[in-house]
Amino acid sequence: MSTESITQRLDAVVATLQKHEQEHLTRGLESVSADELESFVEQAESIDFEEVSALASSGGSAVGIPADLQPAPVIPRHPEGEETFRSAGEELIRRGEIAAFTVAGGQGTRLGWNGPKGTFPATPITGKPLFRVFAEQLNAIDERFDVETPWYLMTSPLNDAATRAFFQDNNHFGRSPESMLLFPQGVMPAVDDDGRILLEAPGVIAVSPDGHGGSLRALTRSGALDHAASRGVKHLSYFQVDNPTVHAIDPLFVGLHATHPASSKEMSSKMVPKISADEKVGVFCSAGGRTQVIEYSDLPAEHANATNDDGSLRFIAGSIAIHILAIDFIARLTSTESESVMPFHHARKKVPFWNPNDGTTVTPTEPNGTKFEMFVFDALEFVEKGLVYETDRVEEFAPIKNAEGGDSAESSGRLQTERAARWMEAAGSKIARNDDGTVNGRIEVAPATALSAADLAGRPCPEFDPGSDLVF
Ligand code: UTP
Repeated sequence: MSTESITQRLDAVVATLQKHEQEHLTRGLESVSADELESFVEQAESIDFEEVSALASSGGSAVGIPADLQPAPVIPRHPEGEETFRSAGEELIRRGEIAAFTVAGGQGTRLGWNGPKGTFPATPITGKPLFRVFAEQLNAIDERFDVETPWYLMTSPLNDAATRAFFQDNNHFGRSPESMLLFPQGVMPAVDDDGRILLEAPGVIAVSPDGHGGSLRALTRSGALDHAASRGVKHLSYFQVDNPTVHAIDPLFVGLHATHPASSKEMSSKMVPKISADEKVGVFCSAGGRTQVIEYSDLPAEHANATNDDGSLRFIAGSIAIHILAIDFIARLTSTESESVMPFHHARKKVPFWNPNDGTTVTPTEPNGTKFEMFVFDALEFVEKGLVYETDRVEEFAPIKNAEGGDSAESSGRLQTERAARWMEAAGSKIARNDDGTVNGRIEVAPATALSAADLAGRPCPEFDPGSDLVF
């Protein structure tokens, strides 16, 4: 690239920055190298300043609660015709129409792990990394249904290289590299309280991943959606990287999504009943005939606390971020005409920044800025009939979000042991339990051994000695 063309591009960038009152971003450029200047120009050219200005000035207005808000209708755990739906799902998996889709672009700040979250040791005894847990599940599915399930994995520009290296170093956990497609999601600049975009360093704009909802446009922009369509994939089984008990591909859920009369076959979701009114999960609701998720922080107390005659919570359907999305639906939603329809949410965060006034780098102790993120469940708004299916918390929700306490590796490990114990008990094993009902010891069942309780039924399980570790 000639010096002249960089100068011209920089001039154009400066003009755009002036138009949007962001010219402070050029402060400190006099001290950067030619390469750094070029990467600043590239970064600035990739940002939609119009969009950022509009978002910053909108101030993150509160979510409107529709007057006709109702609990979303839910398909119960063991629906009528369960076996028929399961067989339909199995047939679609066998035909190669279902791919796995993991969103792993988050920053995992609460966990504080030095590396992509998917590399975190997650299982209670052998400490298998999250990515390995999913890979082993997909290997088992491939063997059972004689397919090669494509696996789409969204990273972010911040963890893409480390994620690729991890799979390379581990020989893709036995999966063929051709069946996997890793792609980075988009990023958005962070702004301060005056709507000014923050700098991370001279010539480096502070950006962060654009939320798990950014996965839909990233699928399209990266070519992953075309890749899936060309392989005959019709639906993506969507899950987050931090839930080791998720069923990466669940035949019954696939069958319900693709063949239940209450499904639009566009987007379906799993829910678990909330354990308390103040549990911090989004809730599936219905308004104007459409399904939507309302974040726990946006659900008014009178709805969150409302109960039915039997005392159960009225708005009980907690979102656990497991969905199935049709390829055609994602293509429609992210086509150039409709790309901006998914809303951005405003999140107050601590954003480290470089202060151009005194040249120092500041690590704030209190939230000082706003990040903009899209949420995948907002896609439900564009679906005519978003099916919601109830599942069991112990069976498939053991997230690892925090370094300790609730939703940590420890609490997740206990849930993984509890699930394994239930599978074994259903198969007739005797499991030693403590007075409080918890399992006396730890158990880990490999995906190659069983993907569900049904896989252990009728098979002899190993003995479990009280207080011991059992892996099989
Ligand atoms: P979380 O909301 O728990 O965020 O993401 P996080 O980044 O993992 O962790 P914190 O909040 O910084 O501690 C839920 C899921 O969505 C993915 C995450 O990787 C995780 O699987 N995600 C989140 C993305 O893929 N991209 C994003 O921009 C945000």
